[in-house]
Amino acid sequence: MKNSLDLNQSPFIEEIHQGYIEDGFFLIRKMYLNTGKTKKPFLRIILADKTGHLPAVYFGAQKELTKLAEEIIEGDIVRISGIMEEFRDVLQIKLIKMEKAETKNLEMTRFWKRTPHDRRELFREIRTMVQSIQNPKLKNICLYFLKQRNFLKIFLEAPASRFVHHAYIGGLLEHTRNVMQIATAFTHIYKDADRDLMITGGFLHDIGKIDEYKFLYYEIDHSDEGKLKGHTLLGYEKLLPALNQADLDKSTRLKLEHMVLSHQGKRVWGAIEEPRFTEAYLLHAADSTDASEFIYSDARRKHRRSHTANPEKHYWSDYISAIGRDVYLG
Ligand SMILES: [Fe+2]
Ligand SMILES: [Fe+2]
Repeated sequence: MKNSLDLNQSPFIEEIHQGYIEDGFFLIRKMYLNTGKTKKPFLRIILADKTGHLPAVYFGAQKELTKLAEEIIEGDIVRISGIMEEFRDVLQIKLIKMEKAETKNLEMTRFWKRTPHDRRELFREIRTMVQSIQNPKLKNICLYFLKQRNFLKIFLEAPASRFVHHAYIGGLLEHTRNVMQIATAFTHIYKDADRDLMITGGFLHDIGKIDEYKFLYYEIDHSDEGKLKGHTLLGYEKLLPALNQADLDKSTRLKLEHMVLSHQGKRVWGAIEEPRFTEAYLLHAADSTDASEFIYSDARRKHRRSHTANPEKHYWSDYISAIGRDVYLG
């Protein structure tokens, strides 16, 4: 391994296929000591950067492995060399060398998974849709949030979920933009649907996620509030002060409250009430469409990465519990 720190020489995970990796810098997502069938000890590792993650293994003497496991913790950056190999049909890196890297001179954003879109552009699109709301009271409810610094700071960074969809920096922003666009598109087809309510509902539907998660850049976890209340109720609570100063007529207020409370569609999916009018149902459909599309597309992205060794042999993804099926990738 060279001594100088040269990130430009280090490949990104999505670029690694077969062969030797001379010098790579990655974030440790998971690492634990394991023993194989032959009783040989090894470290089982998940390496990550902003383009994805890859399994890796490191074999060595028990003493060396124990020392490494004590020295390196999840979230650390390591410098590795190794060989990409196929093990039971899945690609993994067999590490030859691994050491903790000095992070002082490293550009850390390289290691954090984030939305592939420009976050400023996503935000601009959301703001433009909000500006197009005709009802000034509904528009003001959205602006109430868009003008809050503390809200924006988290809204621009937050993930949309822990694992299932848009689970990365800027994920909530990307998902909210998509849901607002799908909701708007529905109003072109279903003329009875109120466009203002649909855009406002699209913007507000997941604001509870701001409080549902705590996230360090490499790891997303539920907050205590998220675990104990869930984002549907947290979002409703966040909405109340905005509603109280908006002076909406009783029916519009009730509709907006219901849209946030019912957007998850079914009680078993986290809805407090199930959709009971057109816009509420369409908002749920827009939300579900975007989350599901992500899962299907992500299955293909993950598949390309893990089966690069022989992609044409594998036509099906692994079983995906979020949708209850495996996905055809032929
Ligand atoms: Fe939601
Ligand atoms: Fe959502």
